[in-house]
Amino acid sequence: MLVSATEMLQKAVEGHYAVGQFNINNLEWTKAVLLTAEENNSPVILGVSEGAGKYMTGFTTVAAMVKAMIESLNITVPVALHLDHGTYEGCYKCIKAGFSSIMFDGSHFAIDENIEKTKELVNVAHNMGMSIEAEVGSIGGEEDGVIGAGEIADPNECKMIADLGVDFLAAGIGNIHGKYPENWQGLDFDALAATKALIGDLPLVLHGGTGIPEDMIKKAISLGVAKINVNTECQLYFQAATRKYIEEGKDLVGKGFDPRKLLLPGFEGIKEIVKEKMELFGSVDKA
Ligand code: 13P
Repeated sequence: MLVSATEMLQKAVEGHYAVGQFNINNLEWTKAVLLTAEENNSPVILGVSEGAGKYMTGFTTVAAMVKAMIESLNITVPVALHLDHGTYEGCYKCIKAGFSSIMFDGSHFAIDENIEKTKELVNVAHNMGMSIEAEVGSIGGEEDGVIGAGEIADPNECKMIADLGVDFLAAGIGNIHGKYPENWQGLDFDALAATKALIGDLPLVLHGGTGIPEDMIKKAISLGVAKINVNTECQLYFQAATRKYIEEGKDLVGKGFDPRKLLLPGFEGIKEIVKEKMELFGSVDKA
């Protein structure tokens, strides 16, 4: 069932768990995440970066594929189709394409411009029944061409953006896209708690979910994080399983070169890590 992410995340805040956003790249990714959500009776958010949208030939293709797949696979759990780190223009494209949720990432603008653009998009998204995420501070590292310095969000700026009526908020707290470096300082829980104190029950989003230790994930959830984004880890599981298949020479046996066989171990790898994350985030049986 394609829905906005508002209700599932409000329920997550009340229930002290988080819903995973898993970024999709193609049919295998989408099918793996949807089936795993259904098997675990978990709500789920499919994240689409602008780069991945382009790769899949555009947001209209993505929306059509996701809607058709939800129907043909009989997916009954709540599914949100969400633009990840959207530009102003990208948000309008996804609104038109039939997404159920958008993220406007205005974190690289001065706060006044971030506020102005977020405010406009909140009104447009809500008129369409869609949910909207905004960002303050920035996520370190790089995600599909979006590069951030990793500034810790100013809690007062978070409050200003929260007051615009966004449905959930990404606040930079030392989190990084991609693998964490050896000398990573960890999440800044003081900043998270300070923001939470000002914004109340508005769901907080933790980007850069790959490689954050379990105890930090649990603490972040206890401090109001209700959505956790995972991208790189699915890619790494897909890569490792595909590499193993080829290194074992399975592609050379019989019809092992058939793409449906060649991509199957990677597909199963994604299912395995998505299930693991749903268990860790506490969203199993919360559909
Ligand atoms: P990772 O690639 O580090 O898991 O981050 C994903 C993310 O935050 C998507 O917005």
